[in-house]
Amino acid sequence: MFAKASDNYELNHSASSAACRLGPCRLHGEISSQPHSQLWLSYRPVSAGYAVHASARFQELVCPETGDLALAGVSPLWRACEELLAGLEGMLGRRPSRVNATGTAPALLLQLQPSSPDDAISGAAERSLAWPPSPADEGYSIHLNTLHTVISSRSPQGVLYGAFELLRRLRREDPGALAGGGEVVRSAPSAPLRHWDLWDNLDGSVERGYAGPWQHRFDVAAARSSVVYPLGQQRDEQRAHDLARLLASVGINGIGWSNVNACDHGNQHLLSSRNIASMRALVALFYSYGIHSFLTPCFDSPQIVGGLFTSNPQVPEVKAWWAKKIEEVAGAFGDAFRGLVFKGNTEGQPGPGSHGMSQLQGANFFAELLEEVGAICIWRAFSHPEGGVDQALYQFQRFENWDGEARWNVALKIKNGPYDFQVREPVHSLFGHLSNTSLILEFQAAQEYFGHAKHLVALPSQWSSYLGFDLSSRFPPYNVQTLAQVASGGIGRMPFSGIAAVSNIGTSRNWTGHVFSAVNTYGFGRLAWTPTTPAADIMREWVEVTFPRSSSYAVSVLTRMLQRSWEVYENYTSSLGWGFACAANHYDLDDMDRRRHTDHRASATHIGYPRNAGGGYASTYNAKVAARFQSIEQCPEELLLSFHQVPYTHRLRTKNNSTVLEWIYRSHMSGVNAAEGFVTDWLAIEGHVDLGSYPGDAFVDITTRLEIGASDAAAFAKSIREYFETLTGCGLRDGRLQCHAQ
Ligand code: GCU
Repeated sequence: MFAKASDNYELNHSASSAACRLGPCRLHGEISSQPHSQLWLSYRPVSAGYAVHASARFQELVCPETGDLALAGVSPLWRACEELLAGLEGMLGRRPSRVNATGTAPALLLQLQPSSPDDAISGAAERSLAWPPSPADEGYSIHLNTLHTVISSRSPQGVLYGAFELLRRLRREDPGALAGGGEVVRSAPSAPLRHWDLWDNLDGSVERGYAGPWQHRFDVAAARSSVVYPLGQQRDEQRAHDLARLLASVGINGIGWSNVNACDHGNQHLLSSRNIASMRALVALFYSYGIHSFLTPCFDSPQIVGGLFTSNPQVPEVKAWWAKKIEEVAGAFGDAFRGLVFKGNTEGQPGPGSHGMSQLQGANFFAELLEEVGAICIWRAFSHPEGGVDQALYQFQRFENWDGEARWNVALKIKNGPYDFQVREPVHSLFGHLSNTSLILEFQAAQEYFGHAKHLVALPSQWSSYLGFDLSSRFPPYNVQTLAQVASGGIGRMPFSGIAAVSNIGTSRNWTGHVFSAVNTYGFGRLAWTPTTPAADIMREWVEVTFPRSSSYAVSVLTRMLQRSWEVYENYTSSLGWGFACAANHYDLDDMDRRRHTDHRASATHIGYPRNAGGGYASTYNAKVAARFQSIEQCPEELLLSFHQVPYTHRLRTKNNSTVLEWIYRSHMSGVNAAEGFVTDWLAIEGHVDLGSYPGDAFVDITTRLEIGASDAAAFAKSIREYFETLTGCGLRDGRLQCHAQ
């Protein structure tokens, strides 16, 4: 299956096939038997001086005494001890002694509250994971007293999160983690549910997966996940274990195991007894890291798996089949199982609508059955309308009446915006509208519309801008309600609210294909934990924990590249919020006409989707927000074309008074220049970046991907320029707009 280590691969993607101007676009093969990267959990030595101080502080580790070997490996407390032992030994060069109680030596203690700070935890204190998780219970504190360092929490998983936080601080050689007295940090997550959704298929492929084996051609984009599937085949246990560690280290507490297109790619057999049994060990492994499991079954499972004559939920045998199947899953997975996820009646998937039922009736049907086993039904809101209807409006109308109608254990999972993870979208209006339904905000870490794993795009900046968006409340005295507040439960503190991301990992030994794409994995978890953290801080932190011994100059350069990358990508792809622009491969921009009628609506004289009219999508927002979007003067110009149709001659107040057409041309040129600048910036820090966490020649691979990004950015910009020149008869010459007719 793997190619030889010496093989190089030329890209033959349409845009990428152009020779890279900054060097040959070749990939360097690697030896597949080399271990995968530990990413930000690489416990390589810290500097000698810091190690001496830290070792003195952590001579002993007081671990939970379970007294029961059967518990070993199943509790997050146990995992916290294992992780600290490995981390301290790796980074400090000395393994602390593992003891049951404090003595006279300086020690690190793990503690379940409300015990007093000086008591080590005992086996009797071992608690099971409560669910739904209370953010207060999942929080932790790290405290320094004269002799000891204490990590404490009300829950085992909270102690584990605290352990990862301490390791993160040691990795960054934070003096505050060792010296001084009192509290080092106290932290609790905002959102109860923080989920990572694999879109793996049972046939071994990954929906929208771009992190394929190193040896694959990029353009095949065939990420395959060895973490989970194909079920029944041998898994890479170490890799699965490391994935659980990586996710837990950034606070993820739930995982969806398979593609939402649940009736394709072999996924329709997910609920077979054989598959359920084969997943048990994996589910238990992740549970030992505080991560609950969610399954995404095919709506037609009663027929496909159960052999029934129909899957109509209104037929008693179908209901009985689901009840029994849910019991079977709950029996196999125990408390680790917390719910089913459905996507119904869109993109070819069957659903309640196939049997004359509404989406709401479908969700309530499953919620009732799942309640029996203490689990929830997650219903995905994403859907495509039939021809001619505005997708944004359609998605709102399909779910606008759920408040008060959905059962208490239903959570509606809604993409960040109403289109489909586009470069820039308005925040989905359902988030401001539904206040009595648990809502899960869905982001996409996989770069489906962001240059796959070829382009540098750090998404925390985008996510952070959405999370801070004020949807305004409909409920006085509350005026403000940000998306982050809604995802944390909103005004009514809905219990199953949260934040989820579509995974960007595959079998690549660096996990994400592009080394820099891991900032999206890391950044998602950190933002889901504290949505108000500035994206720049998160990205700098990722740089520091991933490339720990880099020079401060290199850290600044890298952080700056990441910080700018979303806007740079926006500049060379889709300006002013015009939405979908890509071709059917969701990569190239050479097929602008494809989306002309449904999205950007460009003509010879005008561009943009007029959603500002009464009854249009803009009116689905709460009054203050609606008024802003409806007004051409107040609408943020980054989103202008999402709401207004304007002549190309319309002047942009925040873009140096450029006209829309001038800005389209200029922003694309500036995006290309910036993408080329990324290559230059990266080459300038060669030798200053610590790439020791990565197997193989990561420097060359990153350079290659940046070059591809720059080369393809130029191809994208050319396509856009030619499209608008043909359509409008006007182009930019020497910085000035000139039209044929002039
Ligand atoms: C997009 C994506 C699909 C995915 C869908 C979804 O349309 O291209 O691959 O299935 O979103 O989120 O359900």
